[in-house]
Amino acid sequence: MTESNAVYINELKNHVGQEVTLHGWLYNSRASGKILFLIIRDGTGLCQCIVEKGKVPDEVFEQLKRLGQESSLSVTGTIRADERSVGGYELAVTGAQVVAPAEGYPITPKPHGVDFLMKHRHLHLRSQRQWAIGKVRHTVIDAIRRYFNDNGFILVDTPIFTTIVGEDQTSLFEVDYFGRPLHLTQTGQLYLESAAMAYGRVYCFGPTFRAEKSKTRRHLTEFWMVEPEVAFIDLDGLLHLAEGLVSSIAARVLQDNRSELQAIGADIPALERIQPPFCRLTYTQAVEILKGPQAKEFLARELGELQSEKQRIENRISELEKEQAGQIKQWQKDKIAAELIELRGDLEEVDTRIENNPKHAQLAAEFEWGKDLGGSDETIISQMHDKPVFVTHYPREAKAFYMRTDRQNEKVVENFDMLAPAGFGEIIGGSVREDDYDRLLVKIKDQGLNPETYDWYLDLRKYGSVPHGGFGLGVERTVAWITREKHIRQCIPFPRMMDKVYI
Ligand code: 4AD
Ligand code: MG
Repeated sequence: MTESNAVYINELKNHVGQEVTLHGWLYNSRASGKILFLIIRDGTGLCQCIVEKGKVPDEVFEQLKRLGQESSLSVTGTIRADERSVGGYELAVTGAQVVAPAEGYPITPKPHGVDFLMKHRHLHLRSQRQWAIGKVRHTVIDAIRRYFNDNGFILVDTPIFTTIVGEDQTSLFEVDYFGRPLHLTQTGQLYLESAAMAYGRVYCFGPTFRAEKSKTRRHLTEFWMVEPEVAFIDLDGLLHLAEGLVSSIAARVLQDNRSELQAIGADIPALERIQPPFCRLTYTQAVEILKGPQAKEFLARELGELQSEKQRIENRISELEKEQAGQIKQWQKDKIAAELIELRGDLEEVDTRIENNPKHAQLAAEFEWGKDLGGSDETIISQMHDKPVFVTHYPREAKAFYMRTDRQNEKVVENFDMLAPAGFGEIIGGSVREDDYDRLLVKIKDQGLNPETYDWYLDLRKYGSVPHGGFGLGVERTVAWITREKHIRQCIPFPRMMDKVYI
């Protein structure tokens, strides 16, 4: 595959009028009399290739006509610009070579359920929506690295096998480490704190593991997190860092992935609004909102909107069902079936939200100061904003042992969560760290942790302790919010969930 005129589809704009060769897979094909329309994908994009009978040898024409979806092939021809064509360019084919024919590819343009697609994840990654989400994920990760590398942070890789509990003792994955029980890391933070005392500004970026028994659309058991940690920083400094990071991620995705965002129906104007400053609320203010008239009015309005949305979906479904019963071609039937699957999924979601609305209203109204905000509370707060929101100063009891007690109000800690807008909820959690040896020791003991295991962590408070802090941003939740993907399982190539590991 080393012909000198081989090009990638995303470079076609530089080759208009030239003869080139594309190497790829057959995404879709259609015959219309003496013309074949082949859509080829090569990993960088899609290109429509037009094969006219007589312009290629007859046996090649016949072979291409019968070629199954996802067969691999090389096609040669001349590039012309055509606005109507997918990607904006077309290839007038003069020659083609099948590399490996495929028959009976399981993922067809016909509709498939989530379980089926997840079991075929190794193939599903080739589908347009998955492909586009994967490209956005790539950009998000690159933007994160760039942000920290350009701002003087040093990358420090923290271990995956660990002896310490970073977050929550009930969500540890235990491993047998040569007869000694260890667990998989929930966070690199504690190690990173020691590195921050060596380099000043550091970050780690890797997979983290939580044996959380949650089957929600926001939870994976293995997810990727980036965590910065900074010496000599206060809560305000952390909020600046976090809003700078999230704004630069949004800007990069808008710059690099506009066509993917369009293809998957992301909200581009909403992303364009993601610029500092973000709204700042204290936990206490958030509780007042939840318990007060604002949340009540918001939820009542939401219920009305959901009911009209339900009506709209139901109308469209019955319209399509009528069309389906009529005399139509197979490809039209497939198209309708695909839309129906989508609509039924939407209807199910709207129904769940209608059912949950009064429950959420009740939970919000009865919320008591002191509890951690739950998923539904976060959803309410985040739906009330069109930019990410910071919620700061949570009750000490509700949060992790390492968070610094606010010396002005000992009931709360100097922490924050960042909630993504449109109901996507928490994407970042972070805090200033307890830097006082005695206070930290008490908190470790209070949580029932063994202080001996935390000897080294306490050492950091013995030898030149300084105010410091950091946060963790979950990659999949960020990608879900940016792409408007409802379930984070679609935002990682091979998801691991509590109840399911497919492949
Ligand atoms: O809020 P969390 O638990 O914070 C920490 O782990 C801190 N030690 C980070 C730090 O300060 N260095 O997790 C941080 C983020 C969450 O906001 C969320 O985006 C993501 O990690 N996250 C999950 N993502 C997917 N599935 C899960 N089960 C997740 N749990 C947390
Ligand atoms: Mg959190």
